Amino acid sequence: MGFKIAIAGATGNVGREMLDILAERGFPADEVVALASRRSQGTEVSFGDRTLKVQAMENYDFSDTDICLMSAGGTVSKEWSPKIGAKGCVVIDNSSAWRYDADVPLIVPEVNADAITGFTKRNIIANPNCSTAQLVVALKPLHDHAKIKRIVVSTYQSVSGGGKEAMEELFNQTRAVFVNDPIEPQKFTKRIAFNVIPHIDSFMEDGYTKEEWKVLAETKKMLDPAIKVTCTAVRVPVFIGHSESVNIEFENEITADEARNILREAPGCLVIDKQEDGGYITPYESAGEDATYISRIREDATVENGLNMWVVSDNLRKGAALNTVQIAEVLVNRGLITPKKAAA
Ligand SMILES: NC(=O)c1ccc[n+]([C@@H]2O[C@H](COP(=O)([O-])OP(=O)(O)OC[C@H]3O[C@@H](n4cnc5c(N)ncnc54)[C@H](OP(=O)(O)O)[C@@H]3O)[C@@H](O)[C@H]2O)c1
Repeated sequence: MGFKIAIAGATGNVGREMLDILAERGFPADEVVALASRRSQGTEVSFGDRTLKVQAMENYDFSDTDICLMSAGGTVSKEWSPKIGAKGCVVIDNSSAWRYDADVPLIVPEVNADAITGFTKRNIIANPNCSTAQLVVALKPLHDHAKIKRIVVSTYQSVSGGGKEAMEELFNQTRAVFVNDPIEPQKFTKRIAFNVIPHIDSFMEDGYTKEEWKVLAETKKMLDPAIKVTCTAVRVPVFIGHSESVNIEFENEITADEARNILREAPGCLVIDKQEDGGYITPYESAGEDATYISRIREDATVENGLNMWVVSDNLRKGAALNTVQIAEVLVNRGLITPKKAAA
């Protein structure tokens, strides 16, 4: 007997990707329900070779649903996740609403799957920020080998990280440049077409942005609170795929060759690192793929044990939907939940 799964935010960028990934990976679901706001009620979304009619989440009763994959934004999650959890349905949330709550595990299965058992306190599990997910997949095996002391990360984040309206804005502005139409930024603070913007999410008192703070707080929560992290998060005119330039300082010795060999064996990682034209991965090539790609691994001669590397992944997949489905798989494969139908 399989599970009953609800996708909250099924019409969004991440929600549609979740439906694709559930179908691709043959998740053991007997029933999949597509939920969104009232605006989308009655519209259709694809699930494998089927179409699902979208229902309004506000009218849906979660009592007989086992898992809710939530991707409807932080405000919706703040209000709904506790109510859904109280109905005995485990919420796996993509927003930042619950990530820093001590009673909510923040999980990347390749990194800290064992921490998942804490989910029973609230029936909520958090999925990290897209930039952090791919970063910790690449860092974990290196940390295990040579103990990371400090990381300096610069992100080059695609517009799909800002939702479907942000993708439309890049498309419309790009078109406007060519036909000489006026450009008025809406979702972004400045023009994004043929430009880069060093600002994602809101500013904090110390001058960093919330997006930069998330990378720091989430890396510490999942990997090791002792690691020092600093970040600059930048939006770039790419539709899908986040890239990161990562400078790492280690406690112990590690060469670029050793790092390459470790990462070649590491779960979720794919090393593409030929020192020749095109011998690295760009975000365009990562779109639609599951791996976290690592290229340009070099020793940093300015510190004692330092490396530089380039990390790229599809932000809608490992950065969001894939990681969420992998968390659901951990729940099922470890027998941490059983279908309600079976118990009835
Ligand atoms: N995109 C990424 O790379 C990424 C990565 C990690 C995490 N996330 C997080 O995932 C969440 C969704 O992101 P997204 O990129 O998929 O956004 P999106 O494309 O804008 O989609 C938002 C979804 O939420 C639904 N929604 C909005 N208000 C709702 C309500 N009151 N009740 C029920 N559903 C409602 C929308 O339904 P309608 O179509 O009916 O409006 C839509 O399905 C956000 O919390 C985001 O921070 C995104």
